[in-house]
Amino acid sequence: MATPRTMKAVQYEKYGRGAEGLKHVEVPVPSPKKGEVLLKMEAASINPIDWKIQKGMLRPFLPAKFPFTPVGDLAGEVVELGSGVTGFKPGDKVISISFPSGGGLAEYAVAPAALTVARPPEVSAVDGACLPAAASSALQLLKATGVSFDKKTSGSTGPKNVLVTAASGGVGHYAVQLAKLAGLHVTATCGARNVAFVQGLGADEVLDYKTPEGAALRSPSGRRYDAVANCAAGLSWPALKAVLSDEGGTAADVTPGVRAALTSLLQKVTFAKKRLAPLMLTPRREEMEWLVELARQGKLRTAVDSRYPLSRAQEAWAKSVDGHATGKIVVEIGGADDLAGGVVELGSGVTGFKPGDKVISIGFPSGGGLAEYAVMPAALTVARPPEVSAVDGACLPAAASSALQLLKATGVSFDDSTSNATGLKNVLVTAASGGVGHYVVQLAKLVGLHVTATCGARNVAFVQGLGADEVLDYKTRS
Ligand SMILES: NC(=O)c1ccc[n+]([C@@H]2O[C@H](COP(=O)([O-])OP(=O)(O)OC[C@H]3O[C@@H](n4cnc5c(N)ncnc54)[C@H](OP(=O)(O)O)[C@@H]3O)[C@@H](O)[C@H]2O)c1
Repeated sequence: MATPRTMKAVQYEKYGRGAEGLKHVEVPVPSPKKGEVLLKMEAASINPIDWKIQKGMLRPFLPAKFPFTPVGDLAGEVVELGSGVTGFKPGDKVISISFPSGGGLAEYAVAPAALTVARPPEVSAVDGACLPAAASSALQLLKATGVSFDKKTSGSTGPKNVLVTAASGGVGHYAVQLAKLAGLHVTATCGARNVAFVQGLGADEVLDYKTPEGAALRSPSGRRYDAVANCAAGLSWPALKAVLSDEGGTAADVTPGVRAALTSLLQKVTFAKKRLAPLMLTPRREEMEWLVELARQGKLRTAVDSRYPLSRAQEAWAKSVDGHATGKIVVEIGGADDLAGGVVELGSGVTGFKPGDKVISIGFPSGGGLAEYAVMPAALTVARPPEVSAVDGACLPAAASSALQLLKATGVSFDDSTSNATGLKNVLVTAASGGVGHYVVQLAKLVGLHVTATCGARNVAFVQGLGADEVLDYKTRS
């Protein structure tokens, strides 16, 4: 399909006003310049820097001009190449980082080809859009403390015990997983509601940052840290220094204050054992490729706090400004909102729906779903609330219903009053990585069963992440 001349975008015209300052506009589709690619956008993820720029934190340098289309973490499909660009062709699915020029809250965006990497089908556009700034920052934070991700050296050099603060946030949740991949003991801080989530990422010890121990960053096991990956705003150097081991170590800080550079310089010239390493992300293509590969293998998972269509970008913005995301906040662009369908017309006798309602439905065996419009039985159509994306909603009808009926057929009860009384305790779920299986594992855990699951080797971490207690690679003898 030819690229249109104009597109929908979300922009702000001046500093301040938060989500209210964002306006929906129709603007010309940008043209890729030398070294750039034009992307048809699929998803963009919001980082705190996006709204900090709007707040005027980098005034007068950023944004470069008004009106400004914000957000630099992009996932999309290449539609046009600027001059000099090789290695990509129209149709390629990619992720990219276009910081500080932004442009992500739009149907099309230009991105630097040098910071654009292929997105394999195993990594969804939503997950891919979350990686560029947040996962790269997590990686660079850990590297700044001396952690090596090189298999040959990781066991022998560098720190052993790391503290990751704000481990439930966009950067922190990647930092925990990357630190575990490098074999470190991880103590992590987060709010009480996220303790189980952060444990699920692999953290060995988790502190609620609102308790006295959490505020003091004290490891429950009494360990002192030889590295800190600080992802929490407002933690001072003296507070971080106090928990570094007396033998020395580095606190890498992704939220450095104004004095951080001077403190760090003084430590260098005095050969201090305890060091502060302020971090400003420098995106690197090879790191982005490595992170995408980890995601492809299921070794680096993205937790998506919430997803919004472009038409509700203000809500996504407000959620990020609020500062309480668990994982990443994503704006989905280009049709995803239409996939599961909105009601446009009612057949005779249908009540309970009106045109405009967002719904999911099952049209089996009559089909019809691979079309712009489809008729569906009203009796098997249910409302889709905004928290459930069209993509997620469209996945539920056959696969999740089959998963539920499978478990019920074994005698499992989902009735709160009887679920523990049925006597069933242990279930085996085969093909747990598949469409039906991945719902079965989660439903079985919801009613408290012990789940053993089978899947291929590359999906073991994915299935563990669904909650399976034991996971078997179906290609091994056991
Ligand atoms: N320098 C750079 O290049 C660079 C790059 C990326 C990010 N950053 C900065 O790094 C910071 C983190 O970014 P992000 O994307 O991870 O933010 P985020 O996703 O918005 O972080 C929100 C999460 O952090 C938790 N949190 C906040 N303060 C905490 C504390 N004191 N202790 C423990 N948990 C805390 C919140 O938990 P509750 O909801 O329970 O409060 C929430 O789950 C931001 O300030 C961002 O601007 C800088």
